[in-house]
Amino acid sequence: MTKSQIHKIGVLTSGGDSPGMNAAIRAVVRTALQHNLEVSGIYNGYEGMMNDQFVKMDTHSVSGIISRGGTILKTARSKRFRTDEGLKTGYENLMREGIEGLVVIGGDGTFRGALEFGKKYDIPIMGLPGTIDNDLTGTDLTIGFDTALNTVIEAVDKIRDTAASHNRIFFIEVMGRDAGYIALHSGIATGAEGILIPETKTTVEEVIDGLADGLKKRNSRSAIVIVSEGDEAGGALEIANRVKQKYEYFDTRVTILGHIQRGGSPSCRDRVLATELGFDAVKALLNGRRGEMVGIINNKIAYTPFEKATKQEQAIDQNMLDLAKTLSMLF
Ligand code: F6P
Repeated sequence: MTKSQIHKIGVLTSGGDSPGMNAAIRAVVRTALQHNLEVSGIYNGYEGMMNDQFVKMDTHSVSGIISRGGTILKTARSKRFRTDEGLKTGYENLMREGIEGLVVIGGDGTFRGALEFGKKYDIPIMGLPGTIDNDLTGTDLTIGFDTALNTVIEAVDKIRDTAASHNRIFFIEVMGRDAGYIALHSGIATGAEGILIPETKTTVEEVIDGLADGLKKRNSRSAIVIVSEGDEAGGALEIANRVKQKYEYFDTRVTILGHIQRGGSPSCRDRVLATELGFDAVKALLNGRRGEMVGIINNKIAYTPFEKATKQEQAIDQNMLDLAKTLSMLF
């Protein structure tokens, strides 16, 4: 990598927000200022880039935000940025603003956008993994995953109290689109009797019979089943209905945790991770790196080209699957 001559960078957040994005913005802005760079915040992700929503950022712009969920720069999912016209408008606006490098914070859609943009136009871009889903190749953790997990386990622990008191089976749906990391980790952490994730195939019949068998052996009528929203067996409502059809005597309830998982003050882990990655992204740009996501693997900074980061090549750790299988009634 050759050293680059960058004087001004832009920073944006895009896609679904995640707790810790503000900590990442803060680290990017303050690191850049320390290196005598100018920083432009871009509102509403790529949409704002195409709509000229730039704001000059100084050290005060990011005061007091490290503990805040959401993103002060707002975020959006942009269809227009997938068109040639959108990419061109974005580039022209960046050039007019004098922006010579970009830090984009988001998930796979954000990096797909960055990849196409970088192929068409000569602009160095570094990415930070900001998503609660933890579904990116090239990092052990994404910014927001830990906080989302803490939100989920707090909710599930509370549901457990009432489930046990009423001898009920609760099907709790968690986020994760096509990835089961939130379900798997929260299921392990709450001692869930069932964990359904898209990465392993479990039919509804297996769920029904596994629950009936397991509860009989434990002489219990109460269970917690965590269902990842992307599970192939269907959502929590559908599975609960099918269970009820077969075993009418089971008292079932459904809780869909939804967007509560995306908000809240970031955990310590997420704040530190976001700060480390934001700090490194700016240094990477200055060192001439481009077209890569900055992640963390085995506690070390790792760079992964956008092309690979978006591929979702990482398999869920087999050991985690084995232990979840061993400790729950069904998987
Ligand atoms: O990618 C983050 C995520 O929260 C997914 O877990 C979820 O499927 C999706 O975003 C929800 O998106 P939206 O907020 O646009 O409904």
